[in-house]
Amino acid sequence: MRNILVIVGSGNRHGNTNQLSDYFIKGASEAGHHVMKINLNYVIQGCKGCKACQKNNHHCVIQDQMQDIYPLFEKADTVVMASPLYFWSLSARLKSFIDRLYAISTNDEYPYKETILLMTAGSQEFYAFEQSVSFYRFFTEALGWKDLGMVLAGGCEESDESKSVIKDFMNQAYELGKKL
Ligand SMILES: Cc1cc2nc3c(=O)[nH]c(=O)nc-3n(C[C@H](O)[C@H](O)[C@H](O)COP(=O)(O)O)c2cc1C
Repeated sequence: MRNILVIVGSGNRHGNTNQLSDYFIKGASEAGHHVMKINLNYVIQGCKGCKACQKNNHHCVIQDQMQDIYPLFEKADTVVMASPLYFWSLSARLKSFIDRLYAISTNDEYPYKETILLMTAGSQEFYAFEQSVSFYRFFTEALGWKDLGMVLAGGCEESDESKSVIKDFMNQAYELGKKL
């Protein structure tokens, strides 16, 4: 059984990124894994670069939602990062979450994790997720983490009345969770 932490970097509690994440969670839960989902409710503050964490037993000086997330992150075997595509990149919420992980590093070494990327976007262009995927691959590899898969859900509806992810992507997210 894996301990899976799903971090959702969208402000829409019932939006596309949460929908996609919930399908992943359904699959992973059915497969017997322990899953916890955290919505980044507020924009996580950016890393100040003060490096106090490196002298202060990994404690970050910024008091925000990250303080609740650090212990959950420590316990997780698998970390799922979910984000809407904002201006061809990850949401600021998710990026700040990633930057703030600096606090848990020691001499630029990080605890080992397996990772998954879930994203939603309005665009159906094949290149829409290029920047985000490139960044995800670079940073997970640099930290020595193992990628377990991605679901890149383009063509999402985004009107005020309706939000929805194309069914095929919901199924992909479900199957990715189920096969873990
Ligand atoms: C500020 C902002 C920027 C966006 N930028 C892009 C973009 O660059 N490319 C794209 O295809 N969709 C873009 N979108 C659409 C969202 O990625 C899409 O609607 C997503 O599914 C929203 O997820 P949510 O329902 O979880 O908020 C943008 C939406 C917003 C609000």
